[in-house]
Amino acid sequence: MKTNTEKFGVTPHQPSLWTRADALKVRADDPTTTQPLVRADFPVLNNDVFIWDTMPLRDLDGNVTSVDGWSVIFTLTADRHPNDPQYLDEDGNYDILRDWNDRHGRAKMYYWFSRTGKNWEFGGRVMAEGVSPTAREWAGTPILLNDRGEVDLYYTAVTPGATIVKVRGRVVTTEHGVSMVGFEKVKPLFEADGNMYQTEAQNAFWGFRDPWPFRDPKDGKLYMLFEGNVAGERGSHKVGEAEIGDVPPGYEDVGNSRYQTACVGIAVARDADGDDWEMLPPLLTAVGVNDQTERPHFVFQDGKYYLFTISHTFTYADGVTGPDGVYGFVADSLFGPYVPLNGSGLVLGNPSSQPFQTYSHYVMPNGLVTSFIDSVPTDETGTQIRVGGTEAPTVGMKIKGQQTFVVAEYDYGYIPPMLDVTLK
Ligand code: FRU
Repeated sequence: MKTNTEKFGVTPHQPSLWTRADALKVRADDPTTTQPLVRADFPVLNNDVFIWDTMPLRDLDGNVTSVDGWSVIFTLTADRHPNDPQYLDEDGNYDILRDWNDRHGRAKMYYWFSRTGKNWEFGGRVMAEGVSPTAREWAGTPILLNDRGEVDLYYTAVTPGATIVKVRGRVVTTEHGVSMVGFEKVKPLFEADGNMYQTEAQNAFWGFRDPWPFRDPKDGKLYMLFEGNVAGERGSHKVGEAEIGDVPPGYEDVGNSRYQTACVGIAVARDADGDDWEMLPPLLTAVGVNDQTERPHFVFQDGKYYLFTISHTFTYADGVTGPDGVYGFVADSLFGPYVPLNGSGLVLGNPSSQPFQTYSHYVMPNGLVTSFIDSVPTDETGTQIRVGGTEAPTVGMKIKGQQTFVVAEYDYGYIPPMLDVTLK
């Protein structure tokens, strides 16, 4: 019998492993891989809504694309509730932290536009209420398909379940702004299968989301990355020699690390339009290391595949740790083998003095890294915080071989286009 990979003319592959030994090399506060401190007096994009995961409009090759000179970003967005009795504390004050922490349950896809690649103007919701089949519209990718302005929005329809879906619409521009039309019919693409990717039945804390479609620069085929966990009942995974890696004496104890089973998934399209997909084995697994490798994405540079994914301190396994931020891996071909960038995988982490200052980093092919502000301490002890829900300062990074270096900092939410498409 042919395996899926052989059927689609794709080379069969073994997932690459992010090992415990790799993760032991993670060093918070290394200035070359640490995001500069975000000041507590940051500006807020819009006081009516929280925004977090930011998804720049791009083409299938990864280039951030403007249309008729307008830059466009999509964001996960939720209303702020400063006057809702549900979010008032005992003294009648707005408990913004609780409101912020509840946002995932009411996440919706919104869009914003700008002439300058920053100071984003509010566009509105991408899909009308009732179009998306589930309660939550979670992260994905808007793809500009052509110069007619057609856009495929790939995203995750969550609760009930978690399904990778897409919806087609069109971006329309005028002298005064941008609107999104269509986005009326959501097409389910696939869900976790339980053989390669963990299902909700196998683990109530499973992750399956964040599609990132792309055209492989070498074979020209259409693929998609996504976040998953390795299939199997929760607690049944083995953290063996391969997952542990080459650790020093005394580091063989893996504790309860079998509960952490993140992976970066990949699927290949059976058709040119990306309506019909086949899941393939994960590209990268982090069993025994970390439970979440979120929003995976690529930068294709110097003939290499730079795979980036975001992760948290709280999702690390027993005995290993690292900051919230973006991690990266590099390979000479799409299916690997991948090696961790900077030895450890850490590419851009939060400073330990402000461990939650930013998250959901997205590395663009021009080396700019966008993220959102989560919360920033406002006093020395870190007990008082200011909640963000807005764009963080963009960081400039250089990628050289197997290393990365922070080299610049730009304005809040600076996401300049790499190319402009004139709509017909
Ligand atoms: C990253 C993330 C995504 C998910 C979304 C949910 O910040 O966890 O993986 O799609 O946020 O709000």
